[in-house]
Amino acid sequence: MPKILILGSKELEELLKPEVLIPEIENAFIKYSRNETVTPPRTVMWVEGNWWGVMQSYVPDCGVGVKVVSLIPQNPSRGLPTIQALVTLFDGLNGSPLAVMEGGVLTALRTGAASAVSAKYLAPKDIGPIGIIGTGYQARYQLRFVSSVYRSDEVVIYDVRSDQMKTFRAWAENAGFRVIEAASSEDLVKKSKIVIEASTTKEPVILGKWLSRDQHVISIGAHAKDYRALDNEAITRFSKIVVDSRKAVLDETGDIRIPLEKGLIKQEDIAELGEVSAGYRKGRESDELTLFKSVGLAIQDAAAAALAYRLAKSKGIGIELEL
Ligand SMILES: NC(=O)c1ccc[n+]([C@@H]2O[C@H](COP(=O)([O-])OP(=O)(O)OC[C@H]3O[C@@H](n4cnc5c(N)ncnc54)[C@H](O)[C@@H]3O)[C@@H](O)[C@H]2O)c1
Repeated sequence: MPKILILGSKELEELLKPEVLIPEIENAFIKYSRNETVTPPRTVMWVEGNWWGVMQSYVPDCGVGVKVVSLIPQNPSRGLPTIQALVTLFDGLNGSPLAVMEGGVLTALRTGAASAVSAKYLAPKDIGPIGIIGTGYQARYQLRFVSSVYRSDEVVIYDVRSDQMKTFRAWAENAGFRVIEAASSEDLVKKSKIVIEASTTKEPVILGKWLSRDQHVISIGAHAKDYRALDNEAITRFSKIVVDSRKAVLDETGDIRIPLEKGLIKQEDIAELGEVSAGYRKGRESDELTLFKSVGLAIQDAAAAALAYRLAKSKGIGIELEL
C-alpha cells in the first residue's frame, strides 16, 4: 500500500520560507492564467451562518490538491483560529494519495506569498511604511512575505480590537519592525505606502478619498458576494486592478462584483496576477495607485502542498503512515 505523509503546522512553517514559496506560487498563477491548470470554482456552503469551502485543483508538476476549509469569525473568542483547514495532496497521474497537511498555516503562507508576488510587480519604488488593517492571524504572514519583497522595516497597524493590536505589536517588534499604531483605518491609509487589508470586515475600511498616488493596496478580506473592504470611490481610483482570478472575484467578493454590476469598472480593466507575472499585462509603470484583490485559489494550496511534500521527503521531515 502507498504511504501517506502527514505534515503539521510546525513542519510547514519550517519548510515554506518566503524565498522558496513565493516563486512557486508565482509559477502556479502563471499556469492558472495560461489555462494549464484544472481549477473548478470552489464549492461554498454556509453552515450555521458560517462559510465553508471545498477547493480543488490540478496544477501540472504539483498534483491534485483538495482543501476543506472553514471560516468562523467568532472562533478567536473560543481560543481557536478563524480559519481552520486540512489539505490533501494526490499524485496527478496515478491518483495515489501522497499527503495530508494542516491547512490553516498553509493558507496563511500561500496567501502571504500571493500578496508578495503582487508587491513584486506593483509596489511603489520608494520604500515607506507597510500598513495593515486587521491584525489577526493572516497579518503576520502578510507582513513577513510582503516585506521580503518590499523591504520596509516600518509597519502601521489598525484593528477594531485593541488586544489584537497589542499582540501583533509585540510579535512585530520581536521580528525587528518599528510599529506605529494608527488611530483609525483613515489614519493608517494616510501613513502607509503599501496598505494591506486583512480583516473580517463586511463594510468598507478603505475609502477612495483617503488614498493617494504612489500607493499599492492589497486586499485579502471581504470573501462573500455582499461584503466590501473598499468603497466604490476607491475601486474607481485605481489605475490598475489586479486579481488572483477574474472568475473567482466576480463570483465571490462584493468589492469587484458590485462596482462591475453598477458599471463603475469594466471586466477589461481587471488583470490577473498570472497575466502580470507572465508579462501579458503591465505591472507598475509610474506613480500610480494600484490594487491587488484576492479571494484565494485552490492552485495556491496545491502548489504550496506539493512544494512542502517535495521538501519534506528530501529532508526526511513529517510522519509517514501506511494506508
Ligand atoms: N484572499 C485569500 O486568499 C485569503 C486567505 C485567507 C484569509 N483571507 C481573509 O483574511 C481575512 C482575515 O483572516 P484572519 O484569519 O486573519 O482572521 P482573524 O479573525 O484572525 O483576524 C481578522 C482581524 O480583523 C479585525 N477586524 C474586523 N473588522 C475590522 C475593521 N472594520 N477594521 C479593522 N479591523 C477589523 C478583527 O478584529 C481581527 O483582529 C478574512 O476576511 C479572511 O477571509 C483571505
